[in-house]
Order: sequence, then C-alpha cells, then structure tokens
Amino acid sequence: MPDHILVANWKMNTSSREAELLAEVARRTAVHGVESVLCPPFVWLDRIRQIVEGSRVRVGAQNLHWEAKGAYTGEISGSQLRELCEYVIVGHSERRTLFGESDAIVAKKLHTAAAYGLIPILCVGESVEAREAGKTEEVIGRQVLNAVAYFGGERLLVAYEPIWAIGSGTPATPVQAQAAAGLILRCLETLPGNTDVSVLYGGSVSPSSLAGFLEQPDIDGALVGGASLDAEQYTEMVRIAATITT
Ligand code: PGA
Repeated sequence: MPDHILVANWKMNTSSREAELLAEVARRTAVHGVESVLCPPFVWLDRIRQIVEGSRVRVGAQNLHWEAKGAYTGEISGSQLRELCEYVIVGHSERRTLFGESDAIVAKKLHTAAAYGLIPILCVGESVEAREAGKTEEVIGRQVLNAVAYFGGERLLVAYEPIWAIGSGTPATPVQAQAAAGLILRCLETLPGNTDVSVLYGGSVSPSSLAGFLEQPDIDGALVGGASLDAEQYTEMVRIAATITT
C-alpha cells in the first residue's frame, strides 16, 4: 500500500496535446509512496496509457456501463476499459445529478467494475441542502451501503466529495472530511474482510489544502479536479503527498 493516493479527474477537459503534456509531467514527478492515478477523458485513455507505461503512474476512466457489450450507443464497457486502464470512477456527483445515476445504477457499475478487475473509485457526498438539514450522515451512509451491497472486489477506493465543495474553490474543512471518512469506514465494515479499502477526499483540493486532508487519520488521499489540470499545481501536490507521513 502506498502512503498516499492522488487521483486526477480531468473531467471533460484537455485537448490531446494538453493531455499528453500533463501525462508527461505526471510521469516525471511520480515518486515512491504516492499512488498517482490519471483519469483522462475516454478518448485519450490509450495515449495516456502509453505515455505512463513502465512508470509508477496509473490510469483510470471516469465512468463505465454495466453491460459487457451490446446496443448501448455512446457507452463504454468494463470489458473494454480493462484493456486500457486499471481504475474507474463510479458515481461521481456530476453523473448522479446531471445524468440521473441512481444508487441502483451506481451499485451495478461498482459490481461490474470489480467483475472486470477494475479498481473502483466510488464517489459519495451530500448536497448543501442535505448538510443544512442535518442529513449529511444519512446521505453518505445510504450512498455507501447501497453501492457496496453486492461488491466483491479486492480493492475499493471511496472518495468523500461534498457536492457543495466541488468546483467551488472552497473545500470542506479537514475536520468535516475526517468525520465523513470515519463514517464511510464504519459503513464499509459490512464488506468481506479481505477487501482493501482506502478513503479519499475530493472537492476543491489544491496545493494549499491538500496537507490538511492527508494528515487526517482516516483519509488516504485526494481526488482532484481543477487543480490537477495545472502542471505546476499537480507537481506540487505530488510533492506534498510524498512528504506527509501518517
Ligand atoms: P474539483 O473537482 O477539485 O475541481 O473541485 C473534484 C471532483 O469533482 O472530483
């Protein structure tokens, strides 16, 4: 197990050239003790895989379909992804809110990812309304338990990503993130004992906030969106992740 995990979620950003440059930076900055995972748009997966091949950098997809193949125009299956990458993000809040992914769909995707040997990065997190109504624990608990109900994979990453923090420039506080991470770990006690579990924090993580999260006892890494698209900030975050020991 590495000391820290840094997942870069590029979302629907980067030209092919920008993606190549970021992957080259990731390759150059990769260090022992930090598990760096790049999640580019589907169209660049193969190119990024080639660039980082033989290095410590790993590659992940941002989504998958739960069927192996068939008439699903525009979708990508786990059986296709496993030829290109090792990880896959499942249930990101943008998928849940913009593309109507229910807990049941997220559970199917998580199950499928594991069935194809992909390491899922499950995203959970509450809306600002839920937090203000005191329902943070209820939402996170429901999302985690529904997602992992049929999970049988060997490894699972769960990212606590409060919706109100994503892309806002204002991350959760380390104390808020630690409380959610503790809750997530308690929910995951229902998993078979041989599942290797890591908890990440995501939502406006930047070089200035990263250390505060990594210092928390139950947080193993970060899922970074916007700041991961900036080579300088990315490099700085890898450096910080390598320096902090917990
Ligand atoms: P952000 O995105 O770092 O740009 O807030 C994080 C995410 O949505 O995974």
